[in-house]
Amino acid sequence: MGAQEKHLILIGMMGTGKSTIGRALAQELRMPWVDTDELIEKRLQMSIASFFQKEGEPAFRQIETEILQQVLQRSPHIITTGGGMVLKQENRDQMKEHGWVICLTAQPEILAKRLHNDHSRPLLQGKQLQAKIEQLWQERAEKYQFADWQIDTGRHSVREVVNQIAEQWKGIG
Ligand code: S3P
Repeated sequence: MGAQEKHLILIGMMGTGKSTIGRALAQELRMPWVDTDELIEKRLQMSIASFFQKEGEPAFRQIETEILQQVLQRSPHIITTGGGMVLKQENRDQMKEHGWVICLTAQPEILAKRLHNDHSRPLLQGKQLQAKIEQLWQERAEKYQFADWQIDTGRHSVREVVNQIAEQWKGIG
């Protein structure tokens, strides 16, 4: 399957810039863009934070997997995912099979700067934000490894990241 028949999927920790880059990439590549968290909130008719509080994380992960499966059946899209989409092997397998997967990274201190004052992410509420991010990164780092390519958004501007991803994407087409 050539790249142009696949989805271009962005994975990465919270705050790495998936939505910002995804939106800009969609314009650059003239492809439709869909964000799995947005679809989840539409389906639930409530914020992810409220759903976590009401039903807990396992229920959220279940819906996240269902939404991913639906999205992967569409024509090729830029797909941006929640930071925890990689936690299930099943999700990783599906993304790898149906997409070209890019992992966005950034140093924990940069993520902490970007995310301070954020109230929308239930896993990062309370004190010691950077320590929480480091802990999550330790737990998850290996789960992001299956990506086909990765880029550090802490070292490049949005435009540079978009250009580099677009170049890679055209190169494998
Ligand atoms: C999560 C990341 C969030 C959202 C939820 C859980 C995670 O998405 O899916 O709060 O487990 O890393 P973003 O990565 O877009 O913030």
